[in-house]
Amino acid sequence: MRVCIFGTGYVGLVTGTCLADVGHDVVCVDIDAGKVERLNAGVIPIFEPGLTPMVQANHAAGRLRFTTDAAQGIAHGDVVFIAVGTPSDEDGSADLSYVLAVARSIGQSMQAPLVVVNKSTVPVGTADKVRAAISDVLAQRGIDIAFDVVSNPEFLKEGAAVEDCMRPDRIVIGANNPTAIEMLKRLYAPFNRNHDRIVSMDVRSAELTKYAANAMLATKISFMNEIANIAEQVGADVEMVRKGIGSDPRIGWHFIYPGAGYGGSCFPKDVQALAKTAQQFGVRPRLLDAVEAVNAAQKEHLFELMVRHYGSVEALHGKTVALWGLAFKPNTDDMREASSRRLLQRLWDAGATVRAYDPEAMPETRRIYGERVDLVLCDFAEAALHGADALVVITEWKQFRSPDFAKLATRLADAVVFDGRNLYAPDEVETAGLAYYGIGRGRSLQRPAA
Ligand code: UDX
Repeated sequence: MRVCIFGTGYVGLVTGTCLADVGHDVVCVDIDAGKVERLNAGVIPIFEPGLTPMVQANHAAGRLRFTTDAAQGIAHGDVVFIAVGTPSDEDGSADLSYVLAVARSIGQSMQAPLVVVNKSTVPVGTADKVRAAISDVLAQRGIDIAFDVVSNPEFLKEGAAVEDCMRPDRIVIGANNPTAIEMLKRLYAPFNRNHDRIVSMDVRSAELTKYAANAMLATKISFMNEIANIAEQVGADVEMVRKGIGSDPRIGWHFIYPGAGYGGSCFPKDVQALAKTAQQFGVRPRLLDAVEAVNAAQKEHLFELMVRHYGSVEALHGKTVALWGLAFKPNTDDMREASSRRLLQRLWDAGATVRAYDPEAMPETRRIYGERVDLVLCDFAEAALHGADALVVITEWKQFRSPDFAKLATRLADAVVFDGRNLYAPDEVETAGLAYYGIGRGRSLQRPAA
């Protein structure tokens, strides 16, 4: 089928590439001319495992093209995807200006009936706004062309986006017209071979499904972080508690890892946007507000543990802190809403210097913060330890999982490790002569402060 995709961010680029890979003829449109030029040259703007060779192969095969020409893209597609950003407005609601700008350009250029598919994460009711925006422009042009607006939310995890797209656990299609559902079923047939993963529903339910999925996962994380905070105070170890509850299939093992708070482009934004939608429709979002508040507090927690260890914020002045991890999670270079950013700011405000290492996110960190004397980006994890007083681990990259603790004890002047993702066994770290602080590991706080 002939597909046009607006937006070559994570979602648009991965979706377009996977659709091309199964044989569809895909044109991706982006307003960023430099990005389009680089993509046509095989240069991929994001780090996403498996994506680069796939883009290059499909581009070489002529099934995947990139252009800034919206009219060309619209003329090409029987199905036109909207996969542009929906950043948070100042009040937390989703900013639809990019989505609606695409809708208007579809209205301006369309010459024949088509199906418009909204893949951007958008509040309930957006499909109606997209439909109205297209209809308005068609009316201005004085023509009447039939079109459908479908909601088809994405469930891609950064770092596993290609895999999630090629082997989806569900494909949600929200449409009020059965013909449009049939069209998308044909489009997704190559991803739907062994058993039926397509869940079709009305448009508004599909729009809400996306938010409900992310809010549920964020709720699990905030719940566990709250349990961790309780564990810390009552002298229990949340890792034991996690193991004790995860085996109950009603609870499950996924997304019950306490840590330094959730970040990324989806959870923080989507929880806030859903709360906003609830308010707009007269529902008080008690739980969603709490999920958000717990997470905001959790992002401060590592710093609070450091202050507890050192006795005061002032005591951190002049300290050098080795920081392992910057990205909001492993296998990505994404720093959006990363917990590391809050910690960096707190440490700098306290007058500490940070020596940081992340396998992928250092160029992005440099882009965000520029050159500053209190941020040293190191070429490898070991190098971050040179001259450091303490180590903080904030992203659970595989290479941080089993350091040589005896060596760490000799390297770190204050011999202390703050483990923001509970990667280490407290006993093992302490046996090596290091003080250990994890998340929700009450035992390690019973030790007298240094
Ligand atoms: C998420 C959803 O998983 C995905 O389905 C949706 O389409 C987009 O949002 P993503 O943001 O890429 O994907 O990352 P995810 O792996 O879900 O992690 C989000 C954050 O939660 C990370 O900061 C991670 O560190 C944190 N997290 C995750 C925890 O703190 N504990 C957990 O148990 C799981």
